[in-house]
Amino acid sequence: MEVIVYNTAEEIGEAIGKIFVDTVNARHDSVLGLATGASPIPTYNYIAKAYQEGRVSLRDVTTFNLDEYCDLPREDKNSFYSFMVENLFSRTDIDMNKVHFLNGNAEDIDAECARYDSAIEAAGGIDLQILGIGTDGHIGFNEPDDHFSEKSFRIQLEQSTIDSNQKYFGDVPMPRYAVTMGTGIILKARRIVLVATGESKAEAVQKMIQGPVDPHCPASALQEHGDTVIFLDKAAAKLL
Ligand code: F6R
Repeated sequence: MEVIVYNTAEEIGEAIGKIFVDTVNARHDSVLGLATGASPIPTYNYIAKAYQEGRVSLRDVTTFNLDEYCDLPREDKNSFYSFMVENLFSRTDIDMNKVHFLNGNAEDIDAECARYDSAIEAAGGIDLQILGIGTDGHIGFNEPDDHFSEKSFRIQLEQSTIDSNQKYFGDVPMPRYAVTMGTGIILKARRIVLVATGESKAEAVQKMIQGPVDPHCPASALQEHGDTVIFLDKAAAKLL
């Protein structure tokens, strides 16, 4: 895994944004794996600007988001669906029929997860996946565990994850469960870029890169992926 350290989150957004734009310009029907949260926002800003300047079109891409909350309507302003509409989809010419999410409200969650994994495969697999990392080392919502998850599944969120994300929900308690692509599914992406900024990520980043491959730090699985680049700012790289 390659590690690159930048000065600011904006520089990282520009560097990863360029990778996305080049990928789509090389193959207009690329399959993109997308993440939510603060980390990818500068990247989405770059892609939206590139679209507005006529440097890329997302018309033919297919997207799969990593995860979604359970027990939250898709239209809720805090759903990951709403996040993506606000931060990327509504700012580009993306075809909403080619946008895919796990449905955290499905009656049969196991069937929903199997459907999602099959849909990724049927689309030809993910060409380029963007990831963030949790302070506990999670990727997607694969929380620390005794084993790596292969397939997509429903998970109870860790308290540290709830502590990080409750701010978006204000006084309303945030969902305790989510559905997520499994680590095994994430690792099938042909190319992965991960972004981590800020000191709060430094410990997880150190374990991901220099620790053993261990499901207690799910992101450490990326050590076994052949084409992963980790983009850090100086604060997140502090313990390396
Ligand atoms: C979001 C996701 C999560 C986040 C992680 C970091 O779709 O899969 O793994 O990437 O929680 O979140 P931020 O970027 O808000 O620090």
